[in-house]
Amino acid sequence: MLEMMRDPLGAPFFPVVFQALLVVTWVLHIHFVTGAIGSSTFSIYAFWRKDPNLLRLGRITARLTPNMVGLGIVTGIAPLLFVQTIYDPLWYAANTLTGFWSVTFIFIVMGGYSLAYLLFYLKGSKDGRLLWSAVASLVLLSFAGWVMHVLHQVSIRPDQWMSWYAPGGVIDTRGVQFHAYDVPRLLFLLPLQAGLSFAATLMFVSWYLRQRVDADPTFLDWTAGVGRRIGLWVAPLYGVFGLLWAFTEGPEFGLTAFIAVVAIVLGIGLFAFFWLQNKQPVRAGAKALGVWALALVVVAVTREVIRAVSLGRFNYSVANYPYIIDWGSVIMFGVTSVVGVSVVTYLIMVIYQSGLSADGTVSAKAEGFGRVATAMLGAWFGFFVLIGLYSSLFLR
Ligand code: HEM
Repeated sequence: MLEMMRDPLGAPFFPVVFQALLVVTWVLHIHFVTGAIGSSTFSIYAFWRKDPNLLRLGRITARLTPNMVGLGIVTGIAPLLFVQTIYDPLWYAANTLTGFWSVTFIFIVMGGYSLAYLLFYLKGSKDGRLLWSAVASLVLLSFAGWVMHVLHQVSIRPDQWMSWYAPGGVIDTRGVQFHAYDVPRLLFLLPLQAGLSFAATLMFVSWYLRQRVDADPTFLDWTAGVGRRIGLWVAPLYGVFGLLWAFTEGPEFGLTAFIAVVAIVLGIGLFAFFWLQNKQPVRAGAKALGVWALALVVVAVTREVIRAVSLGRFNYSVANYPYIIDWGSVIMFGVTSVVGVSVVTYLIMVIYQSGLSADGTVSAKAEGFGRVATAMLGAWFGFFVLIGLYSSLFLR
């Protein structure tokens, strides 16, 4: 049945390449969405406690939250496209069985973003008003994570789809039930990773801002210390909930030992990393983000192993997904990626360099690179318009 549900045209390129891209882009997605949940939680705590240093940082994190949600949404679309390409039978089945929530999801995310940005950041955070909007946003964003989790959990259990679709032989088309979930897995992937993403981000940002001429070293050192302390508290819990994940979801797929080893290594490794930064946490900023990215790659691969083992029981494998290399779309994808990555690199260079200089200047080299990147973008737009004109005029 799973094979029948695959796209009859096949994938347009080697399917394992999509799988690798799925893992990499999901790492970005999960870092940003969990970072948003971490920074939102911190802002609420800071505004509630009203301690001056906490409040100062809370105002910054109130701004960070919508930025991170935005980046999380954008970087969520990439893995979504790859999931739809190589796991289409699963993704569409899960979205149908959970139809009500997969549609509502869009409004939940819109609500979570709007409350964090329009109400709390723009209107409330200056003088600590509208804290309820930050709380409501946090609830909505966490709920979005829950929906994502359920969709994924439903998708990797095709053996149960029929009984969920027609329980007792009666078809249920409402799509309102949360058919499958694993609470320890969700706690591991959402609130605990939120703590760690946020800790790594705080250390990174303090390290970065510390390089400015007009930096406030006392505040930034304190901020990096807060990040380190959050990391120290959350890393052991991360390991413990990873173990609970191993013992709850692991047995179903014969992966208990595998997930348990991953959890122990991650829990101890991250704890040791934060522990070792006791002298000057602010100096470890860039390293903290690198170590955290590595940990997330391990988590992303673990999720992929669980999915592969689950589907392997039904002889479904990405390795034997049919494909026909479609050079047209491969070239489109390749060039779009080069153009897109160049423009994003330029934006990052501008943000990085202007943030470091007191008057917001950017090097001539970055400006030169930016001119090339934007020219490529313009040319690519032009090319798309020509393709559109050609196909509507001549290919009808
Ligand atoms: C803003 C709130 C969001 C949160 C908190 C969130 C959180 C999560 C979590 C926790 C997972 C892992 C689930 C699991 O493995 O059990 C996940 C997976 C995923 N999310 Fe999000 N997400 C959010 C928004 C989005 C959006 C807007 C998109 C798409 C545009 C998206 C696309 C994905 C994809 C494609 C996966 C992987 C699904 C799979 O591998 O089967 N997410 N997300």
